[in-house]
Amino acid sequence: MTDSAKLSLGAKETELKLRHGTIGPDVVDIAALYKDTGLFTYDPGFTSTASCESKITFIDGDEGVLLHRGYPIDQLAERGNFLETCYLLLYGELPTAAEMGDFSYRVTRHTMVHEQMSRFYTGFRRDAHPMAVMVGSVGALSAFYHDSTDIADPHQRMVASIRMIAKTPTLAAMAYKYHIGQPFVYPRNDLSYAENFLHMCFAVPCEPYQINPVLARAMDRIFTLHADHEQNASTSTVRLAGSSGANPFACIAAGIACLWGPAHGGANEAALNMLAEIGSKDRIPEFIARAKDKNDPFRLMGFGHRVYKNYDPRAKIMQQTCHEVLTELGIKDDPLLEVAMELEQIALHDPYFIEKKLYPNVDFYSGITLKALGFPTEMFTVLFAVARTVGWIAQWKEMIEDPHQRIGRPRQLYTGAAQRDYTPVEARG
Ligand code: CMC
Repeated sequence: MTDSAKLSLGAKETELKLRHGTIGPDVVDIAALYKDTGLFTYDPGFTSTASCESKITFIDGDEGVLLHRGYPIDQLAERGNFLETCYLLLYGELPTAAEMGDFSYRVTRHTMVHEQMSRFYTGFRRDAHPMAVMVGSVGALSAFYHDSTDIADPHQRMVASIRMIAKTPTLAAMAYKYHIGQPFVYPRNDLSYAENFLHMCFAVPCEPYQINPVLARAMDRIFTLHADHEQNASTSTVRLAGSSGANPFACIAAGIACLWGPAHGGANEAALNMLAEIGSKDRIPEFIARAKDKNDPFRLMGFGHRVYKNYDPRAKIMQQTCHEVLTELGIKDDPLLEVAMELEQIALHDPYFIEKKLYPNVDFYSGITLKALGFPTEMFTVLFAVARTVGWIAQWKEMIEDPHQRIGRPRQLYTGAAQRDYTPVEARG
């Protein structure tokens, strides 16, 4: 095993240490590069840069592998459940029955939010995007729960973690209810995490709400499949915000803001909007041609991934879940679905998509499933945020507990004006 790499700069040779992970590529440790050579490295978009050391999630994009603490995502989604995955991400091991019981108890006892939060919501316009409401309301938790914002106290860190996992579904459901003008529905602690979320979103005070187990299972899978995904843009945002010592509620709000973008968590909403724009199967060739045209910024939303250059392992399970939900609800002739299925087939067989390794990603199928479950498109990214909260928290906690952690402070390649002297306005040409 090689343990170092050499960098030649003219006559000078610098030795750089290699560090080996359990699996995945080795990394060249360049922490001392600037001190030794006066050089920075340049990698916008971080395509070759490991920003941290982590034990939580591993992805092999070429092979289509996603592991949480070593366990394949398909096994967790098919044989486990979301809360168990939360425990695994936070504590590193699958829980025993007693540990699971205790964890579930702690999460369910934190599902309510401070009553004052409901008045906070009424400050938003009804037509506000629910992601805007989420950024505001999750950030506002730091104004309500002062007893869990001291990041130096392990107990407070854990209380904040549990609070966030427990309260984001409540805040998300409140954002939805507010948007559609219905009363908020309080959480029910006798229901599972996914059941309770469906209940808070779809129950109304005037009639009993029946939980459909197939739909609750689908919701749970959507949460599990989105629980964590290594150092993606929003997770890196949370880590960077947290590296300055900001409180966890503020850090998660920063992650939610980053997730909102259409190249990240906003892709499932964008994919559904795109399917609606395409409208019918006969218009697909026109949109495929636009996606391939270098002069057209249009991209097929829900296709491609920075890391997966193979089928996204989450997309396979999501596709199966999507079909289960549509069968359960008896949805056969949905035009959007017809367009989606045809588009998937065309893209999977088109040389452009094959050559560039652009496969449907998890958001392609989750969008269709969420629509069938009854969520409007604006809620899709919100549901992603609910699921990803545990991943953000686990990564934030890992960073805070790392004794070598320092504030994240990237450098730059400066290409602006060199130093020059100020001229008074009357002397400027
Ligand atoms: N449709 C058409 N062409 C595409 C697409 C697409 N969806 N995605 C990438 N390409 C082309 C791109 O034009 C480029 O072509 P060329 O080499 O000729 O310039 C090549 O493929 C590589 O693209 P890239 O932009 O360099 O790749 P990236 O790793 O920077 O981008 C991505 C990854 C996910 C942002 C991009 O594939 C994309 O914009 N997809 C659509 C949005 C989407 O579905 N995002 C969800 C990602 S999964 C959920 C999550 O992680 O949040």
